[in-house]
Amino acid sequence: MARGLFILFEGCDRSGKTTQSTRLVEALNSQGIRAKLLKFPDRTTAIGKMIDGYLTQQNKLSDEAVHLLFSANRWEVMEQMRADLESGTTLIVDRYAFSGVAFSAAKKLDFKWCKAPDVGLLAPDRVFFMDIHPDDAAKREGYGDEIYEKREFQIEVRVKFFTMMDNSWSIVDANKDKDEIHRQIMALTSKAFAKHNEAESPIKKLWT
Ligand code: TYD
Repeated sequence: MARGLFILFEGCDRSGKTTQSTRLVEALNSQGIRAKLLKFPDRTTAIGKMIDGYLTQQNKLSDEAVHLLFSANRWEVMEQMRADLESGTTLIVDRYAFSGVAFSAAKKLDFKWCKAPDVGLLAPDRVFFMDIHPDDAAKREGYGDEIYEKREFQIEVRVKFFTMMDNSWSIVDANKDKDEIHRQIMALTSKAFAKHNEAESPIKKLWT
């Protein structure tokens, strides 16, 4: 049986990742493709609750400590992710290690140090970068509720994302109409499946 694909959505805050990743999972399931949605941070675990307390400004943590918690929050589900992919389930993931590095490096933590704890995690097959300028994101509902939702900081985060892109990334204009974005994502996903079905590659490891 073919393994599932690992498709990742990345982007700045309020770029529409959650909306589009949810729609993609629904569309795949309706086509009979087994797909599951994962979101990082996963705020439901013990580590995730600490992260949530930090993001909603109920507790304070050093930049280094919170960075490592975000990473640990990915490692704690890695074996489950591998099992899902190997059993043929496609994973649609909302944020991952690239967010981890982009946000912490934007706080001026050393770029190499930021990458280190996530080295060896499962690598995504395709990354969809939901690109929106922070000035446009700021106009969206609910913006500014959490610790990182500040214009200058988001501009810095966006720059960091661009430094990590390779040919497995597609940049999606997140300012377009939601349905149009969904259609574009469906087309990109079909292409990824076609390539995968032609020559299935083993699951790679991140940054190794
Ligand atoms: P998220 O719950 O995806 O927020 P939203 O739905 O508003 O985009 O992520 C919360 C915040 O955590 C977001 O500002 C990005 C940040 N973040 C990190 O700093 N490091 C990480 O490793 C991850 C996954 C997210």
